[in-house]
Amino acid sequence: MDPESAPRIPRHIAIVMDGNGRWAERRRRPRSFGHREGQKAVRAAVEFCLRRGVEALTLFAFSSENWNRPQSEVGALMQLFLKALDREVDELHENGVRIAFVGDLSAFQPELRERMQNAMTKTGANAKLKLNIAVNYGGRWDIADAARRAALEVAAGRLRAEDITEQSLAPFFCLADLPAVDLFIRTGGEQRISNFLLWQVAYAELYFTEALWPDVDADVLAGALAEFARRERRYGLTSAQIKAAS
Ligand code: IPE
Ligand code: IPE
Ligand code: MG
Repeated sequence: MDPESAPRIPRHIAIVMDGNGRWAERRRRPRSFGHREGQKAVRAAVEFCLRRGVEALTLFAFSSENWNRPQSEVGALMQLFLKALDREVDELHENGVRIAFVGDLSAFQPELRERMQNAMTKTGANAKLKLNIAVNYGGRWDIADAARRAALEVAAGRLRAEDITEQSLAPFFCLADLPAVDLFIRTGGEQRISNFLLWQVAYAELYFTEALWPDVDADVLAGALAEFARRERRYGLTSAQIKAAS
């Protein structure tokens, strides 16, 4: 990178917020305590993105597989989501954050769904930071849902099957209105995608940190951005081609 130029800022960051349970277990506290602490890191990540001018932040809060955890943990997470919605939405709105929930929301209790819908409606016109919370989300579900919706368009005569291409399928995916994910971060030390965004991370830079999610602060995120700025994104080209174009 040209040292004279400003560091490249990712337009869209996606984070697998992992490590809450281990953070709590190390302190001999229930896993739900780690989830509660993790909310501070969510706030820190949102503030960081607002400060740095990141356009979109997508957080993996609850995967379609997480329903299989002990019922007490799932219940505690649902209570946390409810309380967080009541507590945080107004401030996010004042800060110009647009909140969207992505995933199969039909599985949630009506009162939680209503809170999610209200938050989306209230903040829908904000444009400073697009905050997406993935809940009951799975990357394979997203692909299947996009295929299902495209098939419905074909059945209705609005799309021809032979016209299905990467470009015509793209609008059916979650987050289609946002730039592709530039930087994919996973905290907690595991190096896997765990069925988070699949289609959307095709050319994302991957960044893994040992930091457990409740320990994540602006310094950890600044480290990820510094590493991102050092990467050369080639999109299949050669390094010489990239340098010649810049
Ligand atoms: C991530 O932390 C939060 C959710 C999956 C809801 P974990 O709860 O997976 O924490 P670890 O991986 O067990 O430490
Ligand atoms: C991924 O973390 C899901 C979220 C962070 C919401 P998990 O802890 O569920 O992932 P695995 O089970 O270690 O792959
Ligand atoms: Mg985990």
